Amino acid sequence: MSEVFDVAVIGAGPGGYVAAIRCAQLGLNAVCIDEWKNAKGKASLGGTCLNVGCIPSKALLESSENYFQIKHKLSAHGITAGQASIDVPTMIARKDKIVTTFTTGISSLFKKNKVKAMHGKGTLLQQESDTKIWQVKVDDSGNTETVLAKHIIIATGSVPRPLPLITIDNNRILDNSGALAMTEIPKRLGVIGAGVIGLEMGSVWRRLGSEVTILEAMPEFLMAADEQIAKEAKSAFAKEPGLKIQTGVKIQSIKADNDVVAIQYLDAESQMQMLDVDKLIVAIGRVPNTTGLGATENGLALDERGFVVVDQYCRTNLSNVYAIGDVVRGPMLAHKASEEGVTVAEMISHQEKGLPYENETVDFNTIPWVIYTAPEIAWVGKNEQELKAAGVAYKVGQFPFIANGRARAMGETSGFVKVIADENTDRVLGVHMIGPHVSELISEAVMAMKFSASSEDIACIIHAHPSLSEVFHEAALGVNKRALHI
Ligand code: FAD
Ligand code: NAI
Repeated sequence: MSEVFDVAVIGAGPGGYVAAIRCAQLGLNAVCIDEWKNAKGKASLGGTCLNVGCIPSKALLESSENYFQIKHKLSAHGITAGQASIDVPTMIARKDKIVTTFTTGISSLFKKNKVKAMHGKGTLLQQESDTKIWQVKVDDSGNTETVLAKHIIIATGSVPRPLPLITIDNNRILDNSGALAMTEIPKRLGVIGAGVIGLEMGSVWRRLGSEVTILEAMPEFLMAADEQIAKEAKSAFAKEPGLKIQTGVKIQSIKADNDVVAIQYLDAESQMQMLDVDKLIVAIGRVPNTTGLGATENGLALDERGFVVVDQYCRTNLSNVYAIGDVVRGPMLAHKASEEGVTVAEMISHQEKGLPYENETVDFNTIPWVIYTAPEIAWVGKNEQELKAAGVAYKVGQFPFIANGRARAMGETSGFVKVIADENTDRVLGVHMIGPHVSELISEAVMAMKFSASSEDIACIIHAHPSLSEVFHEAALGVNKRALHI
């Protein structure tokens, strides 16, 4: 008789692989099925995040920032390094090496934790009515196997949202995979969508010397951010040479030949504009991936946008089937996917031990957001426009990096930190940052909010001097008009 796993996880991105490891840590017998193949046609664990998302994009952001520093910023420190140059294939090879280190690292983690890894497409077949055991078909290029498991975790992630009328060829018209693999700097780079990918990828290639034009459909950009932060970002990006962001555009046509991509669009004043670029990145959002999963055949409930419908515990409408990460509602972020994976693993473990599950659900209000542009943008909790819409009375403390000694020493003085606290209770409701290294600074704010801190609690904490974290401290002091250095 075939082995029956306690849990079969479909998808090995940061949702699925973390869920499988946590299941194994809790003594559950877990298998993780994943179909990803890298550019060389090899199975590669880690999903979007490790292969063509978080990790490779940050590797390129780091390389391009270093180049930009040498070329444009270090002379202010008295440092000149002759004629700086960038070898793009070396930069890409470095990025690929980092990716491989992590993707193979997951194989090692699976071995260490005794998670069985299977390569191939996973399709839900059926649940046996008497035993309640699920059958999952695993198809590896035509070689099929059936896996049996008591519980299923769907962690199949997301794929780029297609733009009608064009085909991504990853030669001239690129999605995130192509944007991370260019081996030459395009002289003129177009980007459709001023979202997180558009801004991060636009930053990489602009710093390396491309003339970047980002075309955004909405009248403003960074709509999920606090309005004041979005405004500050807009003015900071507007000062960047080589970067243009046009909002309120309507794309009319895109034509690509061997030499050029020609884009016709209506600008915010409804005037027809033409833009010729050498490469075009399309980054207009991502959609949940349930292709070939057997959703329809098994009656798995999907919402009108194709997300698997789940409750607060990530339970689907099918018995013993859970779904996590980008394929379900909520922000499409790696750390959100992982946290859901851990929560579901713990719930299944309780169920298997016959214990009631009274554990926490994932707290969406304390999930941090980070956009790795320069300046970086980060936030957690509610922004001002959300609080106004909800009729919540609040007070705000704000402090600029320009008044901070460490920021001055670094020569990175743009941006500010804003702390929003409840008018009556002083509890911190949201923290919004734009400036140097805020991707790291935001963690202190997340911890404060997770522990239900008041702005007074943060004000009472001693922050090292001189450090960027003093800006957060001063912003918290500012909530009750106690900021010292402004
Ligand atoms: P995924 O990572 O998409 O993994 C799903 C896996 O399931 C894939 O390997 C897929 O091949 C596999 N799969 C799908 N269907 C099947 C099937 N039927 N059978 C077998 N396998 C299947 N998030 C951040 O938090 N920080 C960042 O800095 C960040 N940067 C990003 C940069 C880019 C360019 C992109 C595109 C995304 C970025 N994200 C970032 C988002 C992040 O990558 C996703 O939120 C995260 O990967 C979602 O994890 P997941 O496990 O739900 O799905
Ligand atoms: P996004 O949702 O962040 O941005 C897409 C943008 O495209 C929006 O501003 C939208 O208005 C615009 N758009 C949509 N249709 C358009 C059209 N026809 N013409 C012009 N503009 C159009 O999506 P993006 O950038 O593709 O990223 C997907 C997700 O990946 C993000 O939402 C985020 O969850 C995740 N991600 C996270 C990162 C991080 O945490 N640092 C980095 C990169 C991606």
